Amino acid sequence: MQGGKRILLVIGGGIAAYKSLELIREIRKRGGTVRCILTKAGEQFVTPLSVSSLSGDKVYGDLFSLTDEAEMGHIELSRAADLVVVAPATADLMAKAANGLANDLASTALLATDKPVLFAPAMNVRMWLHPAVQRNVDALRRDGALFVGPDEGEMACGEFGPGRMAEPARIADAVDRALSGPAAGPLAGKRILVTSGPTHEPIDPVRYIANRSSGKQGHAIARAAAAAGADVTLVSGPVALPDPPGMRVIRVETARDMLGAVESALPADAAVFCAAVADWRAAEQGAQKIKKTGAAPSPLALAENPDILATIARRERGRPALVVGFAAETESVIEHAKVKLAKKGCDWIVANDVGAEDGVMGGDSNTVHLVGPAGVESWPTMDKARVAERLVERIAAALAEDGRA
Ligand code: C5P
Repeated sequence: MQGGKRILLVIGGGIAAYKSLELIREIRKRGGTVRCILTKAGEQFVTPLSVSSLSGDKVYGDLFSLTDEAEMGHIELSRAADLVVVAPATADLMAKAANGLANDLASTALLATDKPVLFAPAMNVRMWLHPAVQRNVDALRRDGALFVGPDEGEMACGEFGPGRMAEPARIADAVDRALSGPAAGPLAGKRILVTSGPTHEPIDPVRYIANRSSGKQGHAIARAAAAAGADVTLVSGPVALPDPPGMRVIRVETARDMLGAVESALPADAAVFCAAVADWRAAEQGAQKIKKTGAAPSPLALAENPDILATIARRERGRPALVVGFAAETESVIEHAKVKLAKKGCDWIVANDVGAEDGVMGGDSNTVHLVGPAGVESWPTMDKARVAERLVERIAAALAEDGRA
């Protein structure tokens, strides 16, 4: 798949750099050519001689090298590639790239490139989960960067958790996908519908009923589905997030609007209902701002909203082959999810333990259990993007098994 494709590999300074040597071999085995930039920190872990021997090319490292610049300037270096891969992508390299810093050859090449960039992060688990790193990852994703990993497991520093660089073969697979475009992804040709965010239910022109949903998890699922090649429609309640690129986004406000948008977006092969839809709305919406009168306020009369998930899951015609609901719970998470699975008529419930740690709502990580007819799978706490990728992998596998692939 990589036949004749040119990869610019930026090797950052992390212990995982030794795996990048294997990555060079893997890419070349698949027919690609590799030219490497080895950062000064990277040189502490692997030698330019090893990199050059494996890549069969000279290794670039110095922004101000007169000979390098004369032969192949940093602009040309970054543009003469079909894809830029950063592995290991350290916290420092990603911080520079996210903020447009350019004070060495690697960061300058990343800023100068007009080609897709794939990051394979590798760092200590605490560093990976640090809000500053997650902010930078988010910013890079918004700028269109691709990511593979990090994986979870034992780390060189003796700790356990997400932060290990993805294995070379997995990075090479991501390189294949990036080079061939999303059309070749595991969800190519599939239509996926995702709801995300809260709904706002107006009480009067200035007040509304809402909840703390940020839309981060739903938006991440939509992005992961698009990256896997799906034709995605994202129906989003009011969120502070930008519309993810490469999909149709329908922005709505109320639960009733959301149901209408979902119905208009069908048919779909799979639908993921991640939105935190308000269960109730004000029975009557004041045409004018409700005023204080000095007397005791009259209680707010509520009306029940339609259950979008149940409505779609129980459709006789045009039901998506796979309907996935979410359930935010603070206690007896799995038991409640099982009850909900039956009550709503959906195929899977992703139960998220919002009591597990502070800040799931609005935060960047999530602890979920995938509850289906076959049983319960509990996933470790991981960032929402990784939850999204994993869920999308499961959806792709289920649709393929369904014979609809
Ligand atoms: O019943 P509960 O709100 O806990 O169920 C959560 C699941 O149902 C989520 O998947 C949510 O998107 C969906 N839901 C819905 N319409 C509603 C309420 C919840 O689609 N009115």
